[in-house]
Amino acid sequence: MAAFIPEEKVAEVREKVDIVEVINDYVQLKKQGKHYLGLCPFHGENTPSFSVSPERQLYHCFGCGAGGNAISFLMEHDGLTFVEAIQSLAAKTNVDLPELEDQYPGEREQHQSKKEAHQMAAKFYHHLLMNTEQGKEAYDYLTARGISEEIIEEFQLGYAPERNDMLVQLLEKREYDLEEMEEAGLILRQESTWQRYDRFRGRVMFPIHNQRGQAVAFGGRALGEGKPKYLNSPETPIFLKHETLYAFPKARQAIRKQDEAVLFEGYMDVIAAWKAGVKNGVAGLGTAFSKRQAEQIRKATDKAVIAYDGDNAGRAAAWKTGDTLVNQGVDVRVALFPEQMDPDDFIQARGPEAFRKQLAERAVPFMSFKVQELRENKNLQNEGDRLAYIEEVLRETSVISSAVEREFYMKQLAEEFDLSMDALREEERKVQKEDQKEKAARAPSASEAGKRWRSGALPKKQVSMRSAYENAERTLLAFMLQNREIAEEVKERIGGEFNIDAHTALAAYLYAYYDDEHEPDVSRFMEYVEEQELINLVSELAHLDIPTEISDNEMSDYVEQIKIRPKREELLQRQKQLKDAERSRDSEAAQKLGARIMELMMQLKKN
Ligand code: CTP
Ligand code: MN
Repeated sequence: MAAFIPEEKVAEVREKVDIVEVINDYVQLKKQGKHYLGLCPFHGENTPSFSVSPERQLYHCFGCGAGGNAISFLMEHDGLTFVEAIQSLAAKTNVDLPELEDQYPGEREQHQSKKEAHQMAAKFYHHLLMNTEQGKEAYDYLTARGISEEIIEEFQLGYAPERNDMLVQLLEKREYDLEEMEEAGLILRQESTWQRYDRFRGRVMFPIHNQRGQAVAFGGRALGEGKPKYLNSPETPIFLKHETLYAFPKARQAIRKQDEAVLFEGYMDVIAAWKAGVKNGVAGLGTAFSKRQAEQIRKATDKAVIAYDGDNAGRAAAWKTGDTLVNQGVDVRVALFPEQMDPDDFIQARGPEAFRKQLAERAVPFMSFKVQELRENKNLQNEGDRLAYIEEVLRETSVISSAVEREFYMKQLAEEFDLSMDALREEERKVQKEDQKEKAARAPSASEAGKRWRSGALPKKQVSMRSAYENAERTLLAFMLQNREIAEEVKERIGGEFNIDAHTALAAYLYAYYDDEHEPDVSRFMEYVEEQELINLVSELAHLDIPTEISDNEMSDYVEQIKIRPKREELLQRQKQLKDAERSRDSEAAQKLGARIMELMMQLKKN
C-alpha cells in the first residue's frame, strides 16, 4: 500500500515507541546490563545472541547480523510496509493518524489481492452465518456445540452455503482476477465444462490467519456427518501449512504473558479452550507438527503443553510433536484426556474449571508421558516384556541432558522393579553404546559435512578476521554515525573512496543525511537507508564499542589506511601488467603503465 503519513506523525510515533516493548511481543527478552537479550527471531538458535538496546532504540543479532529499529523490526519480521509498521506502532503508542489515501493504487504488495479476497470472503461468510436464513442451520449447529455469538465474532466464524458459485459471483462482481482466485485456493474449475465454482460449500468456515493476522486460508467443517469432515484450503503462495499455526496471532500475547503455549489438534479445541479461559492455545493444520512451527513457538516461550486427543492417534502425534518441540529447546508437558475425549469434548463434559486444572496440574512432563506410553500393551509380569520396557525407557532417558532428571527416572525404574541403581547404570551404558554405533553408521562423512556447511545448512562461524583497512572503515563509519563533524571531515578527506562497496554506499547515505540537516540518530538514520543489508550493517556498527571522541592523529591513521590500500593494490597489479607488456613487446602499453606506476609511487610516498 503506497500511502502518505505526515512526517510529524511519523516523528511522534518514533518518539513514543519503545523498542523493548515492541520486540517483547515476539521474543522473550531478559535484561542484561544495558541491553536486553533473547533468541533471534530471524534465525534458529538455542543460545541468545539477539540484543536490544533501549538506549539506542536498536536491535542487533550477533549471530545472523539482522538489525534495525522498531519500525524495521516489524517490516522484517511481519513483512509490513513502512506505512503499515507506522500504523501498527501508532496504535500501540496511541498516536492518531489521519485517514490514509492510496497514492498509487497500482502499486500493491505481492499477493495483496489474494489476501484481500480472503479477508472479503471471511466477512462474507461471517455475514451469511449471522444474518441470513441460509446460515441458520450452521448457526444452530454452533449453538448446539456451545459456541456463543461472542465467540463467533472473536474467531470470525462463518458459513459457506450449499450453492455452487456464491463466492465466484462475489469475486467477479468485485473484479478479482478469477485465475488468481483459483491460485489462492478459494475457487475451483470443472475440468469438463470449465465452469468455476466455490471450493467451500455447506460448511462452517474457520478463517486461518498468517503471522500478521491477515486471513490467508480457511478450514471448513461439514455440518453433521458430511465427508470429508474438514476441508482445508490447499497450500498456496500465501498459505504455507508447515509455517502456519491456527490462532497464533490471537494467542501470541497470552503465550508471551503466561510464558507457555498450549497445542491442540483441532480448530474446535482452540475455540472451546478460549471460551474456557485458556487463550494461549494454537493448533496445527491437519499436517504433522513441523520444525518451523516449533521455532515460532520457541520465539514466544520455552514452555508448551500438548493437549491432543486421548485416542491412539492423538497420543502417537503427541510423541512426535513433543520430540520436535524438545529439539527446539522447548520444555514440554503432555495433558491427556480420558476415554478418547478431545479437549473440546472434555470441556463439554466436565466444564471449564476441570479443563484448566487438567492443563495446569494434571499435565505430565514429556518423559513421564513417554514412559507411560512405552508401558502400553506390555505385560510387565512377563520377563521379556519387562526387559524390553526397561531398555526402551533407558534409551529415552539416557539422552536427557539434566543428570538430576535422568536419575529421577532411573530411580523410578529401580523402585518399580526392585533393581539396583548400579545394574540400571550398567544397562544404560550398554544402550548408549548401541545407539552411538548406530549413529556412527548413519553419520555423514567429513566431506559431506563440508558441503552442508558451504550450502548454509549448518550455521557458519562468524568471520572475525578483518583486514586493517576494513576495520579502519568500520570504525570511521561508527564514528560518523554518532558525530556530524566527524562525518564532515571524512567527507572531505575520503569522500566516496572507501574500499568496500557497502561502506561507500553507507557513507553516501550519511553525507546526504547530514546534508538534510538531520541530527545524529542511528534509529532515525536507518529509515533513511533503503537496503536491508545496509541497515543490518548500521546496527552492527552502532553496537561497536567506540569512544565518543576521536583525536586528529587517529583520524589521520584511519584515513591513511583507507587511502593507501587501494593504491598499493593497484601498484602491484600495474607492475604485473608491465611485466606482461614487456614480455609481449607492447611498448605503447608499457609506457602508459610505467607512467601510472610512477604516479602511484609518488602518491604513496607522499602519504
Ligand atoms: N482435520 C483435517 N481434515 C480432516 C480431519 C481433521 O484437516 N479430514 C484437522 C482439522 O484441523 C481438525 C483436526 O485435524 O480440527 C482434528 O481433527 P478431529 O479430531 O477429527 O476433529 P475435531 O477437531 O475433533 O473436530 P470436531 O470436534 O468438529 O469433530
Ligand atoms: Mn472434537
